[in-house]
Amino acid sequence: MYPDRVVSGMRPTGAMHLGHYHGALKNWVRLQSEHPCLFFVADWHALTTHYDDPSIIESSTWDMVIDWLAAGIDPSQATIFIQSKVPEHAELHLLLSMSTPLGWLERVPTYKDQQEKLADRDLATYGFLGYPLLQAADVLIYRASMVPVGEDQVPHVEMMREIARRFNHLYGREKNFEEKAREAVKKLGSKRAKLYNELRTEYQEQGKDDALEQAKALLDDAQNLSMSDRERLFGYLEGSRKLILVEPQALLTEASRLPGLDGQKMSKSYGNTIALRDDTETVTKKVRTMPTDPARVRRTDAGDPEKCPVWQFHTVYSDTATKHWVVKGCKSASIGCLECKQPIVDAILKEQEPMRERAQQYLDDPSLVRAIVADGCDQARKHAQETMRDVREEMGLSYN
Ligand code: TRP
Ligand code: SF4
Repeated sequence: MYPDRVVSGMRPTGAMHLGHYHGALKNWVRLQSEHPCLFFVADWHALTTHYDDPSIIESSTWDMVIDWLAAGIDPSQATIFIQSKVPEHAELHLLLSMSTPLGWLERVPTYKDQQEKLADRDLATYGFLGYPLLQAADVLIYRASMVPVGEDQVPHVEMMREIARRFNHLYGREKNFEEKAREAVKKLGSKRAKLYNELRTEYQEQGKDDALEQAKALLDDAQNLSMSDRERLFGYLEGSRKLILVEPQALLTEASRLPGLDGQKMSKSYGNTIALRDDTETVTKKVRTMPTDPARVRRTDAGDPEKCPVWQFHTVYSDTATKHWVVKGCKSASIGCLECKQPIVDAILKEQEPMRERAQQYLDDPSLVRAIVADGCDQARKHAQETMRDVREEMGLSYN
């Protein structure tokens, strides 16, 4: 019914590291050439946990956006924006909050987890409980069909689907729905109308999913329908409600196989990261001082790659031949650890080269970044306003 939009956000964590790149950004870069994508800085989300220290949000945002651009997010393909610059997200959040059962929010696994993890903060707040609902508004407001997220966020996407379904159930109800839907079918023109009815019957009576898909494609192509007729006809395929909000799917991004320098998860708080824009010397030094299999005390001691964080880097960066060379050389002590690390240094530097180059132009002229984001905010706002017009109308708030 709507373009197969992809929406995802990240909290403004400042400069990105290679864990972010291999865990999420690389995937975004691929998606932007396949679908219309909206990527945003979730600055309000940062406030749900760090409301007492908002001072770094702004600089973290710019650093992060520069790294998105450096990683290859292309503003001519994807829309890049800042959540709080599209206040419609907050309006939808508020409206959705009216009908969201508290239990749905309390049951989200990250709610208790995060409260325990961030025990030094008082997270017994209204905003923190509402976090997943704000996230639902972030996605539903673009009627997105796909949300690339890590595994921990999948329950949030599940909840978004329930929120959308409940919304459509509550507000997609319409007096004389059947009649209006049948009128709308006629507007498709006789040939299309006939096909629509056949496909609808096939789906409803025989449960044929491909009939449903075909009917949706038919509606996608029907240019002359008004927005409400379109919503009716989509809803009519499956039941007796208009589909105002779309249920999105989680696109599970495989967890990054790239651990930190010490083999733990790569994270700024562990001090084990390689930043996207670390310079050559820093990268070289960081890799050369990485811990290795503790059994290799002397150069002549054999080691086991399975017990070495450097090996994890080889699985991400090296080809088969190099990996064979590592395994053989390590187990027979025929190569030294520094030797073993060199291909990693080379591969990371090669990966970073275009990123550093792209970043440089934005560092030299920050107004470029401001302009890209301003433009992205305008585009996002346009889409968000369209949805809100429908939402207000269905909720009896249009005051025409
Ligand atoms: N909650 C996400 C995180 O912490 C960030 C986020 C906010 C998000 N809104 C979103 C992700 C909407 C996907 C879609 O990583
Ligand atoms: Fe690790 Fe390579 Fe040294 Fe083996 S040779 S311990 S894999 S760094």
